[in-house]
Amino acid sequence: MTDIQDEPYDPAESGDTLSPLAVPTERDVESTLRPRNLAEFVGQPRVREQLELVLHGAMRRGDPPDHVLLSGPPGLGKTSLAMIIAAELGSAIRITSGPALERAGDLAAMLSNLVEGDVLFIDEIHRIARPAEEMLYLAMEDFRVDVVVGKGPGATSIPLEIAPFTLVGATTRSGSLTGPLRDRFGFTGHMEFYSAEELELVVRRSATILGIDLHGDGAEEIARRSRGTPRIANRLLRRVRDYAEVRADGSVTRAVARAALEVYDVDELGLDRLDRAVLSALVRSFGGGPVGVSTLAVAVGEEPTTVEEVCEPYLVRAGMLARTPRGRVATAAAWVHLGLTPPDEAVGEVPSGSQDG
Ligand SMILES: Nc1ncnc2c1ncn2[C@@H]1O[C@H](COP(=O)(O)OP(=O)(O)O)[C@@H](O)[C@H]1O
Ligand SMILES: [Mg+2]
Repeated sequence: MTDIQDEPYDPAESGDTLSPLAVPTERDVESTLRPRNLAEFVGQPRVREQLELVLHGAMRRGDPPDHVLLSGPPGLGKTSLAMIIAAELGSAIRITSGPALERAGDLAAMLSNLVEGDVLFIDEIHRIARPAEEMLYLAMEDFRVDVVVGKGPGATSIPLEIAPFTLVGATTRSGSLTGPLRDRFGFTGHMEFYSAEELELVVRRSATILGIDLHGDGAEEIARRSRGTPRIANRLLRRVRDYAEVRADGSVTRAVARAALEVYDVDELGLDRLDRAVLSALVRSFGGGPVGVSTLAVAVGEEPTTVEEVCEPYLVRAGMLARTPRGRVATAAAWVHLGLTPPDEAVGEVPSGSQDG
């Protein structure tokens, strides 16, 4: 891997290669690559099976299914799954997001336009404003909203019937959902990071759609470095294709994939500059921790939410970082990954022979 030990992390320079968040220019290609039905949706066997039962049970009864909450880190397929739910039900989907529902009126307008059986998808539902959230309770429970007309003593509340619908909410922070909102979902699907084998299936499928000559070992290499995230796997595939076309004969072999990913600063474990900057700050500036997430974020010049929602879940899963009640701690594996000797008190096993060069 490239040595960045003394380089401070510069977000402007880091590019978005490994961000699990979609870059605006990616939207079109993402929609081409989106799985269209449950059968095309790779991985997440538990969520898929549970959802299949929820949907098909409701369809047999001829009712709209229970409201569904999808929770998990960005890029794991929550939006895709929301669209698949609508497709499986043969329903239309209306899409909005928590931040767009600033006033209760915004939500009332959305709800009153629903047709029976529609799926209403609210992305980032944990960011919904309080008045809209309160309106949502009644809508989810009784398919009814109370619209307040006028102000002060003369204000009246007009009950408004809405068509039975299914709400699909997506969140990267199910912990910050209020209890009453969480309780109104009949089913919560917890999305997990994907295995390397599953990501291989994702990139092979995408390669077929995009007409890329992807060899088996090339697929394996891309999958392994994709941080368990299909969005990143698809993006790395496109970056590797660029490299293959410009510097090689267009075929994506293991050697081409490795050389390309080196250029994009994606290391063997799929860690990018920000991940390595976080680990490096934790180890070098804070002696391995424990340190609070906001202090850590300041040290790498990032928003705490980015560190918490984007970096940490994968660092934890990769066994590099532990969350403790007193703060974040670097594991022995993290010290080793940075080419350092872990102190005796470092948590976790020292990985044997895992020091990559
Ligand atoms: N299970 C999956 N199978 C195949 N491709 C997937 C899967 N999950 C996600 N993707 C790909 O990753 C991209 C991002 O997924 P998306 O549903 O937008 O994630 P999220 O909403 O969780 O951030 C999609 O465009 C799709 O190409
Ligand atoms: Mg999404």
